[in-house]
Amino acid sequence: MSKVIVNEVGPRDGLQNQKKILEPAQRVELVKSLLKAGVQHVEVAAFVSPKAVPAMAGADQVLAGLREYQAPPNRFTVLIPNFRGYELAKAAGAKSVCMVLYGSDGMAQANAGMSREQAEQATIEILTRAKLDGIRVTATISVAFECPIDGPVAPSLVREVCARFLQQGADEVTIADTIGAANPMQIRDLTRAMVEDHGAQQLSCHFHDTRAMGLANVFAAVESGIRKFDASIGGLGGCPFAPGASGNVATEDVVMMLSQMGFETGIDLGRLMESAALARELTGTAPGGRATTWLKQYLSKH
Ligand code: COA
Ligand code: ZN
Repeated sequence: MSKVIVNEVGPRDGLQNQKKILEPAQRVELVKSLLKAGVQHVEVAAFVSPKAVPAMAGADQVLAGLREYQAPPNRFTVLIPNFRGYELAKAAGAKSVCMVLYGSDGMAQANAGMSREQAEQATIEILTRAKLDGIRVTATISVAFECPIDGPVAPSLVREVCARFLQQGADEVTIADTIGAANPMQIRDLTRAMVEDHGAQQLSCHFHDTRAMGLANVFAAVESGIRKFDASIGGLGGCPFAPGASGNVATEDVVMMLSQMGFETGIDLGRLMESAALARELTGTAPGGRATTWLKQYLSKH
């Protein structure tokens, strides 16, 4: 059976924008529940300014709480916006970091107080250091289709950035539709071209469900050969610096769709629904996937 990797980003992308701020111990509890469901890869925290994103404070405590679950080295990834984030992540024992690149200057400024090119330069410095430190680096191209500030992003720009960072030694490049503005045809065209350029091994996709096209976009990318996706338990999410963005495509919906299409994710849907219930209990807001009602009925009978 063909495999698809689901990278759970709820504990980072999902929680960063919540009104209710969770303690590091509660975030660790959520991650442990996801591991119990068979999730293999989790973005567990962000080493960002706690003034900018109070919900991500205590990232070092989250990593410390998960130390015994750490292996393999790419199991837990942490997001970093700059070199300072890299240093803090490394000091906390992170083995895999995700640095943010941008499809626009507007978003780079809003998110990290840099230009698009400054973020690229910082990423090259991080890559150089990370190679020496033995730390894995994912480069995420955020607002890869449309920026809420600067508007549409040219696919040629995203392809160029992707090619440059694979060449610079990034272990993986993630294409992120940060505000959930892309449609499946755009996804199909861009991912197809990128898979033709580089193969699918080092590529992944990150979709938000703002316009209810999240699952359709996952399907479009699967058709292009992409086999790794970010998703957020219970559809938790929204970016504090990207007005109008709603949650990521829900992990339970993605796992359900992939398994019905015959792909292996290694994730147990029944246990995953328990993680979704925990996410709801902890935050009071996780909306749940679109298939929640059906999934509950189905799982109660099977
Ligand atoms: N982690 C923690 N603190 C950091 C940091 C990091 N990665 N990078 C900078 N800082 C601290 C600085 O030490 C400084 O602290 P001080 O006020 O106590 O002296 C303060 O943040 C401001 O630093 P500065 O370099 O002037 O940056 P800024 O004010 O332009 O803020 C960021 C830039 C990147 C730190 C901030 O906007 C941020 O953390 N953004 C994250 C956005 C995010 O997570 N978005 C969602 C995910 S895509
Ligand atoms: Zn996102």
